[in-house]
Amino acid sequence: MTTQPYLKFEQIGMSFRRGQMATEVLRDVNLRIERGEFVSMIGHSGCGKSTLLNILGGLLKSTNGEVFLEGKVVDEPGPDRAIVFQNHSLLPWLTVYGNIAIAVDKVFGGSRGKGKTKAERHDWVMHNLELVQMAQAKDKRPHEVSGGMKQRVGIARALAMQPKVLLMDEPF
Ligand SMILES: Nc1ncnc2c1ncn2[C@@H]1O[C@H](COP(=O)(O)OP(=O)(O)OP(=O)(O)O)[C@@H](O)[C@H]1O
Ligand SMILES: [Mg+2]
Repeated sequence: MTTQPYLKFEQIGMSFRRGQMATEVLRDVNLRIERGEFVSMIGHSGCGKSTLLNILGGLLKSTNGEVFLEGKVVDEPGPDRAIVFQNHSLLPWLTVYGNIAIAVDKVFGGSRGKGKTKAERHDWVMHNLELVQMAQAKDKRPHEVSGGMKQRVGIARALAMQPKVLLMDEPF
């Protein structure tokens, strides 16, 4: 038996269609990534980096090929793949704290295997805010902090979810 990689892109192709016009953005992308590996994609603006990331994130469906995470086909978004977007994606009506808590509650709330108590979830939110040095701004809303600070909150939110894959689209 051949060992399967942690993450596998298999023959990924992507075309965007607009009426009769189809624009091919990705063709035959094959990539095997092992657990613990850091992979950076570089390329000129518009070459398809975000598109490939969004396919792995389950936000876009590739027109060809398949992505496998631990042998399972990726076909929808899930908390096992946290994304830090190129443009921040914080919820404007929640505070900095609230933006992380909502993700932590989703992943660790309830009685699922990864469950944490309410007090543990609070500590975990604060721990992750401290990692990005945003604890002192926890009660501010996204519009009250700078662009870089918003991105740091996005990074803290992604880390706090303890995803299998951390997808970062130019977050710095
Ligand atoms: N939803 C869409 N519909 C049509 N075309 C799209 C769509 N999303 C992206 N594209 C096109 O696909 C190509 C790749 O876009 P993508 O956002 O993946 O580039 P990128 O490598 O992330 O660029 P940048 O470095 O500027 O962020 C571009 O030509 C873009 O215009
Ligand atoms: Mg991009």
